[in-house]
Amino acid sequence: MAELDVRRKRLLNEMGVTVWRLPPSSAGTGQAWARLEREIVGCQACELHQGRTHAVPGTGDRQARLLIVGEAPGKTEDARGEPFVGRSGQLLDAMLLAIGLNREHDVFITNVAKCHPPGDRDPRRGEVQACQSWLEAQVRLIEPECILAVGKVSAETLTGTRDGLGQLRGQWMTWGEAMIPLRVTYHPAYLLRYPGEKAAAWEDLLAVKRALEETAA
Ligand code: URA
Repeated sequence: MAELDVRRKRLLNEMGVTVWRLPPSSAGTGQAWARLEREIVGCQACELHQGRTHAVPGTGDRQARLLIVGEAPGKTEDARGEPFVGRSGQLLDAMLLAIGLNREHDVFITNVAKCHPPGDRDPRRGEVQACQSWLEAQVRLIEPECILAVGKVSAETLTGTRDGLGQLRGQWMTWGEAMIPLRVTYHPAYLLRYPGEKAAAWEDLLAVKRALEETAA
């Protein structure tokens, strides 16, 4: 253990804090992130790369406790190279703010597919599979305490089922061998079309907020 970590551990023990999460080493993480983003931006593993303006790796806090995973970049996201910056992104921002989270400082936002599918269609299974290792690498670097999958494609990908969103939401599941707590909710684009479902999405967000508060306590 590095000298700094030993001192930090002793200090925290004196303060009565016995359980904490060490931040990942920022030097290693910075390099790993730079390499990962370069690889995503240059990825040609599926045909979506042919039509993209920008691949969209994701943005936000690289040490976030909450990772939000959408489906695929839309047209606006493809043009800007950032996830969720169109109309549904504005709603997502408002939903996050409502539970006291800021997209730049408190969460990391990405998608199961990093390139824009033509005509705004859903990413196909093969395209999502081609992108899977990027998402797994991001989860390994971020080590989030909780993942929120938004939308059907994201929910089905992360749960590994084909159960519809209506069946998957409203319960805690886990993701991967690390068994990271996973919650699913409606996609903001769906909520824009069906505002009556906002109450259910609000319940999902409150469950996430409670879980984050509990792990911080
Ligand atoms: N919809 C998504 O699922 N992701 C985005 O980044 C934008 C819209």
